[in-house]
Amino acid sequence: MNLSVFIIAIATLLILSVIIYLLTPRNYESAETVANSYDEWTEDGILEFYWGEHIHLGHYGSPPHNKEFLQAKEDFVHEMVKWGELDKLPQGTTVLDVGCGIGGSSRILAKDYGFAVTGVTISPQQVKRAQELTPEEVTADFKVDDALALSFPDNSFDVVWSIEAGPHMEDKAKYAQEMMRVLKPGGILVVADWNQRDDRQKPLNFWEKPLMRQLLDQWSHPAFSSIEGFSEQIEATGLVEGEVITADWTKETLPSWLDSIWQGVIRPQGMIKFGASGIIKSLREVPTLLLMRIGFGTGLCRFGMFRAVKSDSVNQLAEQSTANSLVR
Ligand SMILES: C[S@@+](CC[C@H](N)C(=O)[O-])C[C@H]1O[C@@H](n2cnc3c(N)ncnc32)[C@H](O)[C@@H]1O
Repeated sequence: MNLSVFIIAIATLLILSVIIYLLTPRNYESAETVANSYDEWTEDGILEFYWGEHIHLGHYGSPPHNKEFLQAKEDFVHEMVKWGELDKLPQGTTVLDVGCGIGGSSRILAKDYGFAVTGVTISPQQVKRAQELTPEEVTADFKVDDALALSFPDNSFDVVWSIEAGPHMEDKAKYAQEMMRVLKPGGILVVADWNQRDDRQKPLNFWEKPLMRQLLDQWSHPAFSSIEGFSEQIEATGLVEGEVITADWTKETLPSWLDSIWQGVIRPQGMIKFGASGIIKSLREVPTLLLMRIGFGTGLCRFGMFRAVKSDSVNQLAEQSTANSLVR
């Protein structure tokens, strides 16, 4: 194929993708939409074919450089482990992976670091697929659970880990509260998330508002927090020792958006594997991927990292109050 034919073919597909996008509008309705969307995306297999076991962005290095798409996603998990200082923790450390998808991170944490991982997601189909993908010897279990009402008792896990689940949460303060609640005193919370610029400092302008609306509606998101706002919400749980540490990984993850589209070009066998409906569904996501690239590339969106340690004094306070009630 010569270059001009290739360019015409890409332009035609792009126009087609915009037409499909405009003809099939989506709206965020409720948490049920989130579960249904992930069930559907898991059942049809297209997302897994292109994104692999990790439904999150890749880490392309600092500064970013060319990398294989699926490798960048695996690297993201290892970079997050390092950044969260989880690589210093012993084998057998208990981890809760909140919004675990089909268990990509959970399996790496179990296999490469020897952690005992429990992954939870709101989507029953994801739990089923995560279980299918996890060999028996890997210490990772999966169950359906709601991040906003976790079924675990207080102080259950050494580490709570969550990647890109936050934008789906209707109540971000509750999301922070629940994750800190189930963490053991001295335990570590590490979260990676899509965020928006802090609009208290600089409100969204005339084109950013409709763009953000699209980013929310397309993939079942009620709202993005800001890095500053979510960090304050973690602190407001009253369970944090010292400060919440944050970082901005927008640059390191930015190539993921165009790389996602490029996967469709270099792996056209997906189009054949999933037939006409697969082609339509894949093309349907191209405008959203481009809008995400614009959002993250222009400073409207930011990729936030959060680390917090649960205060030991929580335990001391609880012990103190039990002791007091026994004395009385
Ligand atoms: C973008 S995916 C990320 C998946 C996984 N962390 C990964 O990186 O591969 C978002 C995940 O959050 C989950 N999720 C969304 N809302 C949830 C909720 N209220 N409770 C539990 N999981 C939720 C979705 O089911 C999905 O698994």
